[in-house]
Amino acid sequence: MQAFPATRLRRLRGTEALRGLVCETRVTMDDLIYPIFVEEAIDAPVPISSMPGVSRIPERDLERAVAAIARDGVKALMLFGISHRKDDTGSDAWREDGLVARMVRAAKRAAPELVVIPDICFCEYTDHGHCGVIAHGRVDNDATVANLARQAVNTANAGADIIAPSAMMDGQIAAIRAALDGGGHAHTPVMAYSTKFASAFYGPFRAASGCDLKGSDRKTYQMDPMNGREAIRESMLDEAEGADMLMVKPGLPYLDVLARIRERTLLPLAVYQVSGEYAMIKLAAAAGAIDERPVVRETLGAFKRAGADLILTYFARDIATQGW
Ligand code: PBG
Repeated sequence: MQAFPATRLRRLRGTEALRGLVCETRVTMDDLIYPIFVEEAIDAPVPISSMPGVSRIPERDLERAVAAIARDGVKALMLFGISHRKDDTGSDAWREDGLVARMVRAAKRAAPELVVIPDICFCEYTDHGHCGVIAHGRVDNDATVANLARQAVNTANAGADIIAPSAMMDGQIAAIRAALDGGGHAHTPVMAYSTKFASAFYGPFRAASGCDLKGSDRKTYQMDPMNGREAIRESMLDEAEGADMLMVKPGLPYLDVLARIRERTLLPLAVYQVSGEYAMIKLAAAAGAIDERPVVRETLGAFKRAGADLILTYFARDIATQGW
């Protein structure tokens, strides 16, 4: 490569149009999945104070809300339920008329073209707040996996377009794939939350989703944020178990992990810009410290540059309505 003065990288930065021609990374609505929170048995939306712009949607308004979201240009939706029927196993999640199944049916009725993705986990449905069944003071892996498979089939029966297990149990992808195939859903894809860290960035989500861990944590099943090699193993195992897509979660603090997994898989790779990442941007912008739109663009661009194909982000609807 020739050096200065023959080489002047600024030549291609002179105008907006020139910069557009050489722009390497684009994010479009086709890439974005919008997570929403839906609470049963409430009458009015409940704003989440730590996530400005995000509210719990009353279940009875769900169809109207989903139709409006689809009209705004959102193409894929991740569903989180806030249950009033919690028990020690989270059994509501595999009931045919339980909240998860009802949410999926309502969303598909409201916007059949929308890609509807239920989060497959138990923390929103257990009274202790953990992502599975407790036995001998610990979350029991294999009992939880059996229940995850039941929940997956239940939501596929309800019309889910993609199944997204987030419980971080060993073997959950293989068990869910087998259950889906056995239940007549061989064509339903699985998006694995394959590398999910035990992250403090989930703070606002816990308030939004009503998950109360009662002083406990998820460190015996979610990953240690300090581990990079293990992060790759987690995703590679899910690929081997039959996942159709992989995911890294959270996003910005784990761009290195995203890039390393990108080099090792040919599967579509998703990244989850989580509640704490959203809150930091929203609250800093509200305080006048940063300009929200370009900061959002920069973060989503960073995900794509690092190798993500899909991005789960609470900014998706704003981007659909306000652009960049
Ligand atoms: C459920 C789940 C969590 C998130 C998505 N699915 C919380 C957790 O694992 O504690 C976090 C999402 C966010 O913070 O935006 N297992």
